[in-house]
Amino acid sequence: MVQLFKEGRGSAHAFMNWQSKEQLDLEYILNVPATVIDNHTVEVAGERFQADNLVLGTGAETVFPNIPGTDLHGVYDFVSLIEELDFEPQRCVIIGGSKVAIEYGSFFQAAGCPTTIAARKPLMRTASLHHVDEDLRQYVVDGMRKRGMQILEGVEPVAIKGDGNGNAKEVILRNMQDGSEESLACDFVFIGTGERPKSEHYREVLGVAVGEKGEILVDKHMRTSVPNVYAIGDLIGPPMEMFKARKGGMTAARNIMGEPYEFDWTDYPDFLHSTYEITWVGLSEEEARQRYDNVVVIQMPPKGVPHEDIPLPCAEGTMLYAFMYPELTGFQKAVVEGNSRRLLGFHHVGFGAKDAFQYLDYLMRRPEGITIDEMGNMNELFLNPEHFIQLCRLRAGSPNLRDL
Ligand SMILES: NC(=O)c1ccc[n+]([C@@H]2O[C@H](COP(=O)([O-])OP(=O)(O)OC[C@H]3O[C@@H](n4cnc5c(N)ncnc54)[C@H](OP(=O)(O)O)[C@@H]3O)[C@@H](O)[C@H]2O)c1
Repeated sequence: MVQLFKEGRGSAHAFMNWQSKEQLDLEYILNVPATVIDNHTVEVAGERFQADNLVLGTGAETVFPNIPGTDLHGVYDFVSLIEELDFEPQRCVIIGGSKVAIEYGSFFQAAGCPTTIAARKPLMRTASLHHVDEDLRQYVVDGMRKRGMQILEGVEPVAIKGDGNGNAKEVILRNMQDGSEESLACDFVFIGTGERPKSEHYREVLGVAVGEKGEILVDKHMRTSVPNVYAIGDLIGPPMEMFKARKGGMTAARNIMGEPYEFDWTDYPDFLHSTYEITWVGLSEEEARQRYDNVVVIQMPPKGVPHEDIPLPCAEGTMLYAFMYPELTGFQKAVVEGNSRRLLGFHHVGFGAKDAFQYLDYLMRRPEGITIDEMGNMNELFLNPEHFIQLCRLRAGSPNLRDL
């Protein structure tokens, strides 16, 4: 599997490099470390390059918890997993409770390795994730448990212990309420405790201003505190998401070319994978109720209706699966402000709906937003997996909106 991934990753990157080189006329120097000398000079493989501007985008790395045993064989993060895994794990413990923990944990469990996630807070309730709807969260976590994962919340790691030959054999956890300790036997520990921007070099050489967690501080033009130096991507801190890296690069480039282009990444559609796609944008139901008096919710299955007999939301390619396991088909919710009839948030767990959220985000954030009636006017394709259009249509036009 690792080999397959490495080969696949290589060819996709090679194509994108070719495209940028041949179609955008970029010059590349690949697979060698670069050293910044000053804000106009970079040294690569013994050669010095002069430039009017620098754009820094060297990413972030895992922050390992400060506990004994993280150097044992069998302890991995998302980088060393690919480069160093040399055995087939039989029993996995994941430390952390956010995206990396949930995504890798779900993968290891699905690949046949019984997995425990050990988290300090309830899963998905870490400060780095915003707008997480509680019903969505419950559906995701229940689903992980149904698939046999063990999820321990309210525990912190104390140590990873070895077997005497340098191999991890157990994780010691402390219950944060009563202080009791327990041991989990395992041969594979995966660290998902967050990432820290790799900014030391730039602090030392350029003196760029950084925040509390080492993130390079930039303005909406991606300018750092040092003239002619821009920074983008994970290096400027969370969200460490692809959209921010790519759009940040474009923002820096446009500003360097003289266009005063701004990028605000404080609010954005978000997603993660369990074995499902989990996607959300806008306000959660709780957030909407705190801000508005008249909140209407459209969801599937409707509140209080057991999922066992409802094979919805159903996606293309999963119809027979939906008939066999109706309760595993997913969950969806749209949050509406009842007076203005504007849609405030969308939340979805299932298959095939992620792409729609890019456009929902755009529609919702327009100054005029989008109303439930406008949504009901849209033309859906055959079986559109997030079903929001047809569900909104069931309420669109009715003068007094009610939950569905
Ligand atoms: N779009 C994607 O699919 C995707 C996938 C992966 C990662 N990412 C991005 O990559 C970044 C990193 O993600 P992440 O999931 O690694 O980190 P994260 O969102 O920062 O969450 C870190 C998790 O580790 C826990 N933690 C931190 N220090 C710990 C310690 N010493 N002991 C035990 N638990 C500890 C935190 O718990 P507390 O809440 O208790 O602090 C939290 O659950 C994020 O910006 C994320 O958005 C994106």
